[in-house]
Amino acid sequence: MIICSCNSLTHKDVEHAVEYGATHPRDIYAARGCKAKCGNCVPGVVCMLREALVKKSQTPALFSHLSNCAETPATALTA
Ligand code: FES
Repeated sequence: MIICSCNSLTHKDVEHAVEYGATHPRDIYAARGCKAKCGNCVPGVVCMLREALVKKSQTPALFSHLSNCAETPATALTA
């Protein structure tokens, strides 16, 4: 989905930028080598950035939980 028509930024661009360390809207544009032009997309970019940062912050906990499950002996799960 395109979220910035001036720069053809998509929601995937936001997710990728956050994955590589973006924490501010300007980081999202910079990751694609552009800047906000008309500014109409900025509220949407901020919203998607917040959601992506929350999602990213929850990922390590998820992986931690999964790795604990992988180390749990199968007998412990059935006992
Ligand atoms: S729509 Fe993003 S700068 Fe214009």
